[in-house]
Amino acid sequence: MPESAQQLHIDPLPDFQPEIRKARLADVGDMYRIINHYAEKQLMLPKTQLQLYEYLRDYSIAVDPSAPSRTLGCGALHFYWENLAEIRGLAIAPEMAKKGVGTALVKRLLIEAKDMGIEQVFVFTYEPKFFGRFGFVQVEHSTMPLKVYNECFNCPKFNSCDEISMVLHI
Ligand SMILES: CC(C)(COP(=O)(O)OP(=O)(O)OC[C@H]1O[C@@H](n2cnc3c(N)ncnc32)[C@H](O)[C@@H]1OP(=O)(O)O)[C@@H](O)C(=O)NCCC(=O)NCCS
Repeated sequence: MPESAQQLHIDPLPDFQPEIRKARLADVGDMYRIINHYAEKQLMLPKTQLQLYEYLRDYSIAVDPSAPSRTLGCGALHFYWENLAEIRGLAIAPEMAKKGVGTALVKRLLIEAKDMGIEQVFVFTYEPKFFGRFGFVQVEHSTMPLKVYNECFNCPKFNSCDEISMVLHI
């Protein structure tokens, strides 16, 4: 698809349904750009391309069904233990926000979690209202198992974390 076509705005049709599929190696460039757009604004943790390749199997992406080479967003389900997983790296291309793409990705990640036998999904987020719509509830950071803080060691806000912990029992 020509570059100019990729930049075309997609009208927010009421019945717009993104296609959700597992991420492929060729998707890493788009995922890197979308995630780090928000990381630069300190709205989520930055990811290196190496991290994205290493954890690629965690990720699903949303594409436009009528232009499947156009990545609309991505999100990952990362396992921590036999019954515990995190939704992370969820980011929607800014021009596609508030059109249901994030909702479609989270729904798919929750189905994946259920299929894998996960009982509890958590998220660290600045978007409690968005996650609350799925039934996630806010919990104290201190109630989360210590092992989930692994990624936080790389975070510039390690000692002043202002993200909200939320959990969902599925
Ligand atoms: C948070 C984020 C993932 C949400 O993705 P999104 O695609 O905008 O989410 P949705 O469109 O499914 O839902 C967002 C809102 O738009 C509304 N919406 C969805 N489709 C709509 C439509 N067709 N018309 C009007 N409103 C619509 C939803 O009801 C929802 O409303 P709410 O905010 O009042 O709950 C996205 O904004 C993002 O990438 N943020 C930056 C990174 C980030 O914070 N990620 C989370 C890290 S844990």
